[in-house]
Amino acid sequence: MQLIKLIAFAIIISFSSVFAQKNIKIIPQPNKIELGEVEFTLNTKTQIIASKELQNEANFLADILKEGFNKKAKIQSKGKGITLTIDPTLKSQLGEEGYILLINKAEVSIKSASSTGVFYGVQSFRQLLPADFEYSNQQDDILIPTVKITDTPRFPWRAFMLDESRHFKGSEEVKKLLDQMALLKMNTFHWHLTDDQGWRIEIKKYPKLTEIGSKRENTQTERKSDKRTGEPHEGFYTQKQIKEIIAYAKERHITIVPEIEMPGHAMAAVAAYPWLGSLGTTTAVPETFGKMDDSFNIADPKVISFLKDILDEVMALFPGEVVHIGGDEVNFEPWEKSEKVQKFMKKNGLKSPVDLQVYFTNQISNYIDEKGKRMMGWNEIMGDNIHEENQDKKLEVEQKLANSAIVHFWKGDLNLIARAVKDGYNVVNSNHWDTYLDYTFERTPLSKSYAFNPIPEGLGEKYHSYILGFGTQMWTEWLPTQEKLERQIFPRLAAYSEVGWTNLANKDFTTFEDKLVKLKQRWNLAGVYYYEEDEKLD
Ligand code: ACM
Repeated sequence: MQLIKLIAFAIIISFSSVFAQKNIKIIPQPNKIELGEVEFTLNTKTQIIASKELQNEANFLADILKEGFNKKAKIQSKGKGITLTIDPTLKSQLGEEGYILLINKAEVSIKSASSTGVFYGVQSFRQLLPADFEYSNQQDDILIPTVKITDTPRFPWRAFMLDESRHFKGSEEVKKLLDQMALLKMNTFHWHLTDDQGWRIEIKKYPKLTEIGSKRENTQTERKSDKRTGEPHEGFYTQKQIKEIIAYAKERHITIVPEIEMPGHAMAAVAAYPWLGSLGTTTAVPETFGKMDDSFNIADPKVISFLKDILDEVMALFPGEVVHIGGDEVNFEPWEKSEKVQKFMKKNGLKSPVDLQVYFTNQISNYIDEKGKRMMGWNEIMGDNIHEENQDKKLEVEQKLANSAIVHFWKGDLNLIARAVKDGYNVVNSNHWDTYLDYTFERTPLSKSYAFNPIPEGLGEKYHSYILGFGTQMWTEWLPTQEKLERQIFPRLAAYSEVGWTNLANKDFTTFEDKLVKLKQRWNLAGVYYYEEDEKLD
């Protein structure tokens, strides 16, 4: 009899564990989950306990509870309820961003060595609530499974890039995307603010950059086609608006990395100030996409001063450490055609345009270093010849990239990553095959996004920490509308959040797909567009 009781008890326990496991639908998957057997009751009386230094996180949680219960939770300095705590001793175990979320029958505790970790604990707690909680007018108690989650991210760099040059989307869309990044514990918003087809950031010293450079008369609508919208496209952020977005991101523990493209992808700037170009032929912001005619004339000290002035304003505006200077797909032809550039190269012993690019990039890197910040650029900044159209050209590089630069790998042989880390560089892996959000879902299905590993196969363990993490990139040439944009980003952003956060042993695509059903319910209510893999986009 005793044995039967024991077996029955065991069955009940394991059944309730399975039940509880099914209710733990957190994306990105936490790295350690220990299930309890009972439930915590959340209701309008639940209060939040937090010290002064955690008021931002306490308010964020209080707002979530207000959305659900239509009543703001009290934030107290002492008491019982949901307690948020900074515990510096946890740093050795959990690092800067890790957290412990403990839910027992009577109370909830979120602890971390930093406010960032507490914020992530709040995001996990939030995902344990019903998908519609924040959109309901709940009167009833909410039962939450008791659990202990001990969680810390796999990588410190978990980035999403938005190209606003090709199609400007504006503050509301950016905030909406930042909200989704926060929910998914993505910590880096890489903001591609300048490119050939539009300059999107106010620079006070050079007003024409936005007066002229933020507008184009028309826009190509298909690759290699004469089709156009027949309408002008424009938009830019004032520095005041940028400050507001920086503050919004900061509340969500997201750092913004601004990207100011140089020395290529420069046509909008050259249209505004023609003396910046190497050819003297650019008269308008381009309406087509693809390879462009001109590049900055980096042999001219006036152009270098101009770029440094811009960086001064950018560095004063953005509090983060890293400034991205692009550096990809530079058209070398204008330099080859320009007598002035050729003379400059000879004088400085620069044998090829690649050497000129690295020489220039190092000047910029040193300048950024002097200001206490750090430069990042697409992997062409190392001088590797990665473009098919240049394969028959002699483009060996002699110059060596400055040591402090962060290499943003996007294209070329994966061995280039190994070489970069062995040379001591930090790398962010954004291999285009794996991380580009403009690619169709036929080309990059969700399972492929999910399976991406930022550490290339075979890379020696001692180099792993040089790989800071990964980025996923939303290029917007062909995405004029909010709906089209979001249907490229979602649900892939959720898959990438596990790429950046979850240890390989805890990743599982089937579990992810199951959890995604709940996340999609949330997106439906939040008005987030997403793609269903069994549909075909036109
Ligand atoms: C890039 O896709 N040109 C970085």
